[in-house]
Amino acid sequence: MAESMKGLKRTHRCAELSAANIGETVTVMGWVNKSRNKGGIIFTDLRDRSGILQVIFEESDCGAENFEKAEKLRSEFVIAAVGRVERRAGAVNENLATGEIEVRATSVRILAESETPPFPIEADSKTKEELRLKYRYLDLRRPDIQKNLILRSKISTTIRAFLSEEGFLEIETPILNKSTPEGARDYLVPSRVHPGSFYALPQSPQIFKQLLMCSGYDRYFQIARCFRDEDLRADRQPEFTQVDLEMSFVDVDDVIDATERMVAKVCKEAIGLEVQLPIMRMTWDEAMNRYGSDKPDTRFGMELQDVSEVVKGCGFGVFTGALEAGGSVRGINVKGQAEMPRKKIDALVEFAKGYGAKGLAYLSVMPDGTYKSSFAKFMTEEELKKLVEAMKGEAGDLLLFAADRLKIVWSVLGALRCELAKQLDMIDNNKFNFLWVTEFPQFEWSDEEERFVAMHHPFTMPMEEDLDRLESDPGSVRAKAYDIVLNGVELGGGSVRIFQSDIQEKMFRALGFTNEKAHEQFGFLLDAFKYGVPPHAGLAIGLDRFVMLLVKAESIREVIAFPKVKDASCLMSECPGPVDEKQLVELGLSIEKQETEEEQP
Ligand code: AMO
Ligand code: AMP
Repeated sequence: MAESMKGLKRTHRCAELSAANIGETVTVMGWVNKSRNKGGIIFTDLRDRSGILQVIFEESDCGAENFEKAEKLRSEFVIAAVGRVERRAGAVNENLATGEIEVRATSVRILAESETPPFPIEADSKTKEELRLKYRYLDLRRPDIQKNLILRSKISTTIRAFLSEEGFLEIETPILNKSTPEGARDYLVPSRVHPGSFYALPQSPQIFKQLLMCSGYDRYFQIARCFRDEDLRADRQPEFTQVDLEMSFVDVDDVIDATERMVAKVCKEAIGLEVQLPIMRMTWDEAMNRYGSDKPDTRFGMELQDVSEVVKGCGFGVFTGALEAGGSVRGINVKGQAEMPRKKIDALVEFAKGYGAKGLAYLSVMPDGTYKSSFAKFMTEEELKKLVEAMKGEAGDLLLFAADRLKIVWSVLGALRCELAKQLDMIDNNKFNFLWVTEFPQFEWSDEEERFVAMHHPFTMPMEEDLDRLESDPGSVRAKAYDIVLNGVELGGGSVRIFQSDIQEKMFRALGFTNEKAHEQFGFLLDAFKYGVPPHAGLAIGLDRFVMLLVKAESIREVIAFPKVKDASCLMSECPGPVDEKQLVELGLSIEKQETEEEQP
């Protein structure tokens, strides 16, 4: 039977004890990590969130009754032990912070027993993630996840302290909302009071933070939960946390300056990393042309080379065809990989096809100076030589080319570059390369919707120099939008906002909104702007991603206490799940039966 805490008070966490406490009588509590009975002496590793402490039981110290209890200890039992801190009788354990000491117990209480856990509670777990997530409450006892969540807490505290010091006010905004346009699908919540009507969970606090600027709060921040119904990846969850901020009477540089000082402070306090300020800036155009990505990983080179001019008029139809159709031919030089086996190159071609490529042309500059290539036969010796030169190809290099619409060429080579760097171990994992990407395009053409959509969101201010092309040539307009990138991951993004109603209206028109539609969706924001709106700008950092990168985790699931898996379900609680018919009736909802495959004709 479980014993009570009556009359007991914990004096220290396990790893708070050290040689400095030798001679003191202490009361420690926690989970039995492991207990070994060596005949007359029992060694118990006691664990709590601070670490592990060795407790030893001998009948001569603790008496028969306590020794009998100690004999029953199994992994994950919760106990309280009272005893004296002593220097270890055995060898010092270098792996433990408390390796020099042990607690010689005078009494023990079993506060809770435990069944045998389905997997060992240990760091660097080999257990399959599905099992870990099903028993997340046990997984969360593992020291490496505890370390992540403890650091996450520290990061949030640092951010709060920094922003508050800088005059930002922490203000909460609603979770039950009208839809916010961040481009993903909304999670909807049906209303009982208004049958047939729905709230949307916020994709971000965007509109509210802009309203707070209208209301004069000047500098706002929130560590805000956001919800987006989109396909999940290693760095995406359906609910995630943003460090969201907004400032009045500012321009691009002010937001960038405040953000990078915040980021530097966090890196310093969390992992002792010095970030050199100011962080390097690169325009979107430059990022795309050099790296094929708006979130380039600059820890390695292998930059894209535009060879369109060089292959113009050459004999290879794939290249000239792409150029004639208005596309581009670009390549990357994979240094020293000329002898990559055919099978591996074929796998790269398949990889490229996953990013929309029709194929991937390759040319190896063999050590003897001859070429091995999928297209050399279509080109003259002279054309090949010029191409290799343009690619700065030397003996031993593998050149890979994509020919297509520029957007596809960028996405293929951008992804290929990262994949190859990973495969060839070209990335220095100790580097933290921050980068600002600026001057994003205002619009992006959506093939699906056959119209321009906002690349950031509809409230983003175009660059002053491009304003006159908002309606005549929207594709060429650049935005006062910026992203902060860390090691090839988009850490955060933001923009200067439109605060002039005429520009906002032009913006909506360019996006294909009618006046009515704009007012139906954002009427309250547009109305608010009629009553004196200050120029304002802001940004949001993905907190989960930031912590993930700082602890070098493979996925954001490792830094979120209760994450969801790829299909947006929770393996532990098994949500989402059906609800009672009664709840549906109250909400005025009925569920259409989904056809299963067998039922289909
Ligand atoms: P944006 O949509 O770029 O901007 O989001 C900001 C940052 O939030 C993080 N993020 C995510 N993290 C985990 N899972 C997701 N599904 C997910 N989606 C986004 C990213 C991203 O950089 N309101 C604007 C900000 C602004 O303009 O001020 C916004 O939400 O790290
Ligand atoms: P094919 O003439 O289709 O056999 O293609 C010859 C070579 O060009 C093969 O190596 C293809 O993978 C490659 N290729 C085909 N389409 C493209 C493309 N759009 N860009 C680059 N290479 C391509």
